[in-house]
Amino acid sequence: MLISGRGSNLAALLAAAGDPAFPAVIELVVSNRQGVAGLAGASAAGVASMVIEHRSFRDDRASHEAAIDTALRNAGIELVCLAGYMRLLTPFLVTAWAGRMLNIHPSLLPAFPGLNTHARALAAGVKLHGCTVHLVTNATDEGPILAQAAVPVLPDDTEASLAARVLAQEHVIYPLALRLLAGGNAGTPPSGSAALCNPLPTRLRVA
Ligand code: GRF
Repeated sequence: MLISGRGSNLAALLAAAGDPAFPAVIELVVSNRQGVAGLAGASAAGVASMVIEHRSFRDDRASHEAAIDTALRNAGIELVCLAGYMRLLTPFLVTAWAGRMLNIHPSLLPAFPGLNTHARALAAGVKLHGCTVHLVTNATDEGPILAQAAVPVLPDDTEASLAARVLAQEHVIYPLALRLLAGGNAGTPPSGSAALCNPLPTRLRVA
């Protein structure tokens, strides 16, 4: 798991992987920032973690990614999950882990790649928003989609309320997607992909 911060998706994956039937074990958490909440979560779960700070490599992205790659290989890692990892990857790491690296993005891709997805969804007036787990390719926030969940955008939503609704679904679909990929069932869409959609509330609260 590569993280940069809060680590709520890490927590969701750790919880799912606590099931002995889950087809993956979370072996290592790597953060590019010191002292973030996700590292405390890893520690509480008894999972090995390390900090490989990008700042200590200055602008040398290649060396930073080489250090991450070495750490992953030394730990015998087979799949990598980006979970709020806030660094753009270079083709080196993407190619090294092609087909074996997942990302979660807080929008229904291909809508709203990049940052500030919830604010942009509100500004665009979309009625459905959501989240996507996809394989990582060299194009940011693209790559084959493994799972998506949709949520309604409600009339009185703020960026925070919409983010919270989406985040709850992130915690559902990331374990689901990892289960599909690690279990060898993600390669043959549509049966190997998953989509979830929350039903709309029976009575919409209209402002
Ligand atoms: C999530 O919204 C995820 O979709 C995005 O970054 C956020 C990370 O949150 N890529 P957390 O650190 O998992 O709580």
